[in-house]
Amino acid sequence: MRKKIVAGNWKMNTSIAEGTLLAKQISFLTKELEANVEVIIAPPFTHLAGISSLLKQEASKVSLSAQNCADQLSGAYTGEVSVKMLEDIGCKYVIIGHSERREYYGETNAILLKKIELALSAGLSPIYCVGEKLNEREENRHFEVVAEQIKEVLYMLKGFDMNRVVVAYEPVWAIGTGKTATSDQAEEMHAYIRRVIGNKFPTLADEISILYGGSCKPSNAVELFGKENVDGGLIGGASLSAQDFIAIIKSF
Ligand code: PGA
Repeated sequence: MRKKIVAGNWKMNTSIAEGTLLAKQISFLTKELEANVEVIIAPPFTHLAGISSLLKQEASKVSLSAQNCADQLSGAYTGEVSVKMLEDIGCKYVIIGHSERREYYGETNAILLKKIELALSAGLSPIYCVGEKLNEREENRHFEVVAEQIKEVLYMLKGFDMNRVVVAYEPVWAIGTGKTATSDQAEEMHAYIRRVIGNKFPTLADEISILYGGSCKPSNAVELFGKENVDGGLIGGASLSAQDFIAIIKSF
């Protein structure tokens, strides 16, 4: 059985007080939910220590994720945060390859492969983001682009417990734009991603959770999550409201 997952990517938003309150609300509201969905929040680095102890104190069902990690293990890398530090602080997940990292910080597939290897070695579960830009979809190259993002990164992983990898399909044109992929577009790509993964890792294809991201909100989550190959969502904007985030989780 594939794991159902809803992950909130807070990006560079909230003060520590606001973030702590949001985490408290989400933790409280998830108590009454059935246990079949893994709920993850990914606050900014500065919030992780405080929110980690809060979640521990409350024996919360919510798991903690970072939004990024360094592509080196330790040493003279000013400003970076290592996978060991994230594991140490209580993270279970780390988002890797978000389109904002690829686009604004020049992260290539080669860099992302290093990050995923490090994350897996440290016992973290990477949430690996893939997705095409608007022009690539318009030129009908979306399958090719996504296949390349998978082949140059996931295909290169050797000897790791691949069961810990989560994939998030996030069409770049749908992120923060209010434009959502239709549930059919999402399903078509998710089924394709599963096939591409299956070509290299046959036993993994059915096991791996593939999340949809890009303007996912309470009003469209039911339809998206109703699709066979959509195992949950990576939620940006709507994850900053505890009510909306919980409504999305309840959409399963
Ligand atoms: P959005 O962001 O839900 O605000 O579109 C999704 C993401 O970037 O992960």
